[in-house]
Amino acid sequence: MSETENKKIIFSGIQPTGTFTLGNYIGAVSHWGKLQEDYNCIYSIVDMHAITVRQEPAKLRQNTLEAYALILACGVDPEKSIAFIQSHVKTHAELNWILACSTQFGELSRMTQFKDKSAKHPDDVNAGLFTYPVLMAADILAYKTDLVPVGADQKQHLELARNIAQRFNSKYGELFTVPEPYIPKTGAKVMSLQDPTKKMSKSDENPNACIYILDEPDVIMRKFKRAVTDSEACVRYAEGKDGINNLMSIYSVVTGKDYAEIEREFDGKGYGDFKAAVGEAVSDHLKPVRENFARYMADKAYLKECYTKGAEMALRISQKTISKAYRKVGFVDRT
Ligand code: TYM
Repeated sequence: MSETENKKIIFSGIQPTGTFTLGNYIGAVSHWGKLQEDYNCIYSIVDMHAITVRQEPAKLRQNTLEAYALILACGVDPEKSIAFIQSHVKTHAELNWILACSTQFGELSRMTQFKDKSAKHPDDVNAGLFTYPVLMAADILAYKTDLVPVGADQKQHLELARNIAQRFNSKYGELFTVPEPYIPKTGAKVMSLQDPTKKMSKSDENPNACIYILDEPDVIMRKFKRAVTDSEACVRYAEGKDGINNLMSIYSVVTGKDYAEIEREFDGKGYGDFKAAVGEAVSDHLKPVRENFARYMADKAYLKECYTKGAEMALRISQKTISKAYRKVGFVDRT
């Protein structure tokens, strides 16, 4: 990415908390590579966010490297985008503090992800979990980001980032760009295969609920075959058919077919045929990702070269924002 090119800026991040799910992929990461031609893209593996819930240190290190290799495997090109590991760029933590002082306790208390995660981990409701959305706002605002490609579950955090930016700007004078969400029309919320009223999530205890993008083809087929549907036995997109709607949206994204085409294709056929077709299409679609991932993981020196360069570039850009923010709030110049 050229720092001088006059294109809009995109920022997005993903937590290194295990292999990506089909939800992560369809809702967010699969779009990242496609955006590189038209935008200045900045992508981060957000390890600092990950430690808001307990992580095993050696596992986090491994997951972070794998997540980095995975975003490349999904199409992020480190020559075209800035791709880095969040903890390598100190400005995120610095801006986090500045923004925390423009964020209200009440607004953080309303975040549904905080409520969900604190209910899930009642023995570790730490301050980082509570202020998580402030760090996310820092990630985004540090780069004067215009657009943030994410799944629907991040909309509330993004709304908060916008409010924080506007509040800071009106308190101290214009500095931050107010970012817009960039949420896909289809696949913004991929649902669990076992309970299609719930989002597909890495933390689901039922292994059949979630497709991981590195799952082998037979595992993918098996999980789709077991997907919960309904008793109507008719492939059509309609209210109350959450399971089928979810499978249709997945199939639509990986094949490029719209819902009317899919309904025609499976007219008169049963759910068994449909589920097998979805499984096959997803497995074929993910084949290059699996192959690319193995290739990148076999070349750790290349990965290191990429994330080191990414961090240097990210630091250079975000440092400018931080210096301006420090001046605006009244800190004495260091030099
Ligand atoms: P994370 O790591 O939970 O998820 C990464 C991306 O995947 C999307 N996603 C989904 N999309 C569709 N269906 C699903 N079932 C599904 N599950 C997850 C998420 O919306 C997200 O886009 N807080 C963020 C990471 C973050 C970030 C940022 C994102 C930190 N700083 C700055 C954007 C900008 C998170 O936990 O994503």
